[in-house]
Amino acid sequence: MVAELSPIDRAKYVASRRSVDFVEDGMKLGLGTGSTAAWMVRCLAERVREEGLKVTCVSTSTRTAALGRELGLKVVTMDEVTWLDLTIDGADEIDPALNLIKGGGAALLQEKIVATASDRMIVIADAAKEVATLGAFPLPVEVVPFGWKTTQALIEETLFSLDVSERSSTLRLQDGAPLRTDEGHFILDLHLQRIGNPRQLALVLNQIPGVVENGLFVDICDVAIIGHADGRVVVRDISSGQADESRVDLTQSGNIFADLE
Ligand code: A5P
Repeated sequence: MVAELSPIDRAKYVASRRSVDFVEDGMKLGLGTGSTAAWMVRCLAERVREEGLKVTCVSTSTRTAALGRELGLKVVTMDEVTWLDLTIDGADEIDPALNLIKGGGAALLQEKIVATASDRMIVIADAAKEVATLGAFPLPVEVVPFGWKTTQALIEETLFSLDVSERSSTLRLQDGAPLRTDEGHFILDLHLQRIGNPRQLALVLNQIPGVVENGLFVDICDVAIIGHADGRVVVRDISSGQADESRVDLTQSGNIFADLE
């Protein structure tokens, strides 16, 4: 069945499959959000079912929590655990220093809280997410609905003093209305094309009244697992500087498709 997936889904699947090798019995885990993270949740649930692993999970969105519970994972609130051993999540862009843009799925706030509260964060992605410089993907910024147009104007004004190539922004909509995050906020997508200094931008954005959090993850991610459609997986560890390549057997999909049938 894996062979029948689109090339992009095969790449997401093999990255996810490899990532759950890092999970150990008894761990407290953060579960990311998005299509790649959903593959990871399926691969994790399969390990839990087949090996009897005992893990406690915190989800970064209502969507992932629902999928995890449906597949039999123990999903608790962040406040029940406070700190986590490992978080595995997707990303919209990954640079060579493993800085990330996240929030394409509007879950960046919970994702950043959960990843920051983890001893280790692993990002999983297909190779198209790797970029030399962040910024082609619009940067999501979560804002309070009250006075959002003022917040937007302040953000755009602030961008003039920062090292980015473009400076427009749009309110993210869903079914013709402003999209609401799990926390009830809005998302502004910043169209920057190139982010010269992600660390500075992340710090400055969070000083603007009305901004709750931004989708730049700087110095949070420890390991990137990049999947390819032919089954190759590259694991890049930022602390060792090592990149190890292995291969996931595409003929061995186990039972992870049970919930998709
Ligand atoms: C969710 O808010 C995001 O941060 C996702 O992790 C990111 O958008 C990647 O999603 P996909 O795996 O669906 O591309």
